[in-house]
Amino acid sequence: MRNKLRAAVVGATGVAGQQFLLALSGHPWFSVSVLAASERSAGKTYGDALGSTGWCSAESPPPEALPLCVQDASLLSETAGRDFDVVFSALESEAAKVIEPGLAQKVPVFSTASAYRYEPDVPILIPGVNPEHAPLLLVQKRRRGWNGFIAPGPNCTTTGLAICLRPLHDAFGLRRVIMTSLQAVSGAGRTPGVLALDIVDNVIPYIAKEEEKVEAETRKILGQYRGPGEAAAGSGEAGDSEGRIEPLAIGVSCTCTRVPVLDGHTETVYCATEKPAPLSAVRQALSSLGQSLQGLGLPSLPAQLISLREEPNRPQPRLDRETGRGMTTVVGRLRPETVLGEHGVKFVLLSHNTRMGAAGGAVLTAEWLLKLGYFG
Ligand SMILES: NC(=O)c1ccc[n+]([C@@H]2O[C@H](COP(=O)([O-])OP(=O)(O)OC[C@H]3O[C@@H](n4cnc5c(N)ncnc54)[C@H](OP(=O)(O)O)[C@@H]3O)[C@@H](O)[C@H]2O)c1
Repeated sequence: MRNKLRAAVVGATGVAGQQFLLALSGHPWFSVSVLAASERSAGKTYGDALGSTGWCSAESPPPEALPLCVQDASLLSETAGRDFDVVFSALESEAAKVIEPGLAQKVPVFSTASAYRYEPDVPILIPGVNPEHAPLLLVQKRRRGWNGFIAPGPNCTTTGLAICLRPLHDAFGLRRVIMTSLQAVSGAGRTPGVLALDIVDNVIPYIAKEEEKVEAETRKILGQYRGPGEAAAGSGEAGDSEGRIEPLAIGVSCTCTRVPVLDGHTETVYCATEKPAPLSAVRQALSSLGQSLQGLGLPSLPAQLISLREEPNRPQPRLDRETGRGMTTVVGRLRPETVLGEHGVKFVLLSHNTRMGAAGGAVLTAEWLLKLGYFG
């Protein structure tokens, strides 16, 4: 058996960083050796940096993390490769923009931040959804002259949507998608977070930059990878010498709202499809997602990437967000959709924003790429 890879968790004090510690506690392939955050936390033990109110999961913090000294994330590139082999980053995005490249020069960086998601040489990977995009990481390494790479996960609202749309597109061909989200407060993190005064007894019909992110990321994740030298289909072009992703050319239109739920993003989704989408075939397509991953022995992979509920009042965040330890997207209220187009389907999904939508998803991606030999 190989030695465990030593992991640094960066942004370890925040909502997503805490979930990294939980996802990596007792992990068979990774062990957390370094914690880092802003200079506000640097120099304190992790326990002191959290203080009495900083931990925000119902699960207790891993006891082995509490005495570790939190390092200043902006200085961490100096010890990358020497003190740790891989980075799990849950930095606030502006900090990620500056800090993640210095780390990726030396080691792979799995990130929950949006800072690099939209760069042409950066895939937004979800295991089981867009495996054909993974080779773009090699293009990224070569282009930037890095030993490592930056592999960001999607925005937490994109995750469940892309997971459900992939099998629907493969089976029926998507034409148009309309989505309205009801997003949990933990999705806003601690800083600045959401004020109780604003969210209790309320729904906030706007989340800054969220809709644009979800629309662009969904098209990118469902897009076509053009390897080095491959031309776009029917373009007559000579081909792209670097490799890139051609976003899926469909309309995706979103409204993102914040609701008084702690964890778990609910989304109502309306899809117009090219082919008829009978509900029995939709059920079959959704429940088959991720079968290619079973058998790889990935420790964070749930038994099902998508779980279907037939009851008319499911999914609900309180009842369903822990399905598959928060790694399973729960889908219900499947119905035919015939207003958006001639054929289609509509449904409600629930995705745990800090687990599959953030740290859990990033750890699963790292497990999958390690298994494929991308690092380690
Ligand atoms: N929350 C979610 O559900 C979720 C889901 C998907 C993606 N994300 C993304 O994950 C990232 C973290 O989100 P979060 O919700 O965990 O936010 P958060 O609770 O506000 O935590 C932010 C983390 O970043 C650190 N940080 C802030 N400014 C920094 C700086 N200048 N230098 C170094 N470290 C700095 C903070 O350290 P200090 O404690 O020392 O200030 C803290 O550890 C964000 O990019 C977010 O968009 C979050």
